[in-house]
Amino acid sequence: MKDIATTLLKRTSVRRYERQPIEAEKLQLIYEAIANSPTSYNGQQYSVIAIDDQPLKEKLYELTGQKQIKTCALFLIFCADYHKIECLAREKGIDVPPFRDTMDGIMVGTIDATIAMSNARIMAEALGLGCCCIGYVRTAAPQEVSAMLHLPQGTFIVCGLAIGYPREQPDIKPKQDEPLLIHRNGYHDEEITQRLQQYDEHISVYNRTRQGSTTDNDWCGHIAGYYDEGINNRVLTYLESQGCGIGHENDTNKA
Ligand SMILES: Cc1cc2nc3c(=O)[nH]c(=O)nc-3n(C[C@H](O)[C@H](O)[C@H](O)COP(=O)(O)O)c2cc1C
Repeated sequence: MKDIATTLLKRTSVRRYERQPIEAEKLQLIYEAIANSPTSYNGQQYSVIAIDDQPLKEKLYELTGQKQIKTCALFLIFCADYHKIECLAREKGIDVPPFRDTMDGIMVGTIDATIAMSNARIMAEALGLGCCCIGYVRTAAPQEVSAMLHLPQGTFIVCGLAIGYPREQPDIKPKQDEPLLIHRNGYHDEEITQRLQQYDEHISVYNRTRQGSTTDNDWCGHIAGYYDEGINNRVLTYLESQGCGIGHENDTNKA
C-alpha cells in the first residue's frame, strides 16, 4: 500500500482504465474506509450505490456523456440519505422533523456523502487504483439516473466516483499557491488578484504543454465557462422530486 503522503501529493484524476477487475480484498478495504467516515451527529446521512454491471454502466454513460463510467471497473454513486432514519423512526413511532427540506439538511447530507467519497478515493488510490469524481451524474440527467437506481424519497445523488486500474499517468495539474488557499487567522484579500494572474498564466502554460491532449485554456475564463453551464442546472427541482429541498426553510422564513 502507498504511504499517505505519496497517495495525496502525487494524486491526479485518472480517466483511462485497464480492463481489470478490482480484487475482493481491495473492494473490502474501500468499503470499510467508506463505513468509517465521520458524519454529522453520527447520523450517516449517506448511502452508496456500487455499480459493476456493464449494461447499467453503459446506460449511465449514455445519460451523462462521461466515458469513464463505462470503462472503469467500479462506479460508486454517493447519495445523501434521509430515507434510512425515516424507515426506523416510522417503525419506532418517532417523528422525524423535515430537516431534509432545509438548506442545512441538504448541506449535511451532501457533506456526509462527499467525505465518504473522499475516504473511498484515498483508500482506492493508496491501493494502486485510479479514480475520477463524476459530478455530471448529479447534473446531466439526475431524475432518470435516480429512477434507474430506484432511489427512494429522502435520498439524492451527490457525486459519482469511477475506480479502476490506471491506463494513464497524467501530469499533476498545478494548483493555487498556499497564500491563495490558506489564510492565517482571517481572510487576506491583499495581492489576491496579482497572485491569481500568476496562477492563470501558470495553468495556461501547463494546458499548452501537458502530456496527452493540450488546450489553450486559462483558469479564469475556463472556470467561468463551467459556471455558465452550471447556472442552467436545475438541482433544486431535482431535489424536490426526491422529497428534499429548502421548502421548510422558505415556509419558516415567511411565517
Ligand atoms: C466534485 C467533483 C466533480 C467532478 N466531476 C467531474 C466530471 O463529471 N467529469 C470529469 O471528467 N472530471 C470531474 N472531476 C475531476 C476534476 O475535473 C479534477 O479534479 C480537476 O480538473 C483537477 O484535476 P486533478 O484531479 O487531476 O488534480 C470532478 C471533481 C470533483 C471534485
